[in-house]
Amino acid sequence: LNTVNTSMWNYSDYFAKGVKYTLFISIVSSIFGVLLGITLALMRFTKMKLFHAISLCYVEFVRGTPLMVQVMFVYFGIGSIINISALLSGIIAISLNSGAYVAEIIRGGIDSVAVGQYEAAASLGLSRRDRMRFVVLPQAFKNIWPALGNEFISLVKESSIVSIIGVTDLIYQSNLVRANTYRGIMPIFVTMLLYFVITFILTRILNHYEKKIRSRE
Ligand code: ARG
Repeated sequence: LNTVNTSMWNYSDYFAKGVKYTLFISIVSSIFGVLLGITLALMRFTKMKLFHAISLCYVEFVRGTPLMVQVMFVYFGIGSIINISALLSGIIAISLNSGAYVAEIIRGGIDSVAVGQYEAAASLGLSRRDRMRFVVLPQAFKNIWPALGNEFISLVKESSIVSIIGVTDLIYQSNLVRANTYRGIMPIFVTMLLYFVITFILTRILNHYEKKIRSRE
């Protein structure tokens, strides 16, 4: 029985691999999520009713269904037509999911700018486009940026769901360590600490930039 090494230090490369996958999935998905979110938000603000409706339905539907089901739907659904890896499925599902949340963040940020600002800009003779570009968006950005930061932190934590389709993220790796060491709790505790360290560092970085943006008023 002494052949089983139960010290967590001996499994540091297991955890490192998990952290690497978790960060990779979160970063890639948030990039695609932001691109999709901007597209959806633009669709929401156009005068074309069809685009508006598609964006609205998409956001409602995605936010109204669990990420877990979406991950499974992409993996088994698309997987039944073409052969895609669990990692790619996870990234697709999380990007599609995050896009809906980002769209709402952008919409909320723009709506938070008082109408008076838009009207004042109009009275100065600015075109519709310039009113958005020089008056509304710079102010909206102050609200959008911190919320996007929160979304990224959420993604780091929510991405843990991809472990159910076999992506070797932090949760998946911690289960391997549990199986290898026969220790039920310690690997979970280490995993929890690792998630905390990641989100703690991210929060500090984001706060730093948030302060910078605010001091530019
Ligand atoms: N866990 C929730 C769900 O399953 C929230 C997902 C949050 N997603 C996000 N992009 N912030 O739906």
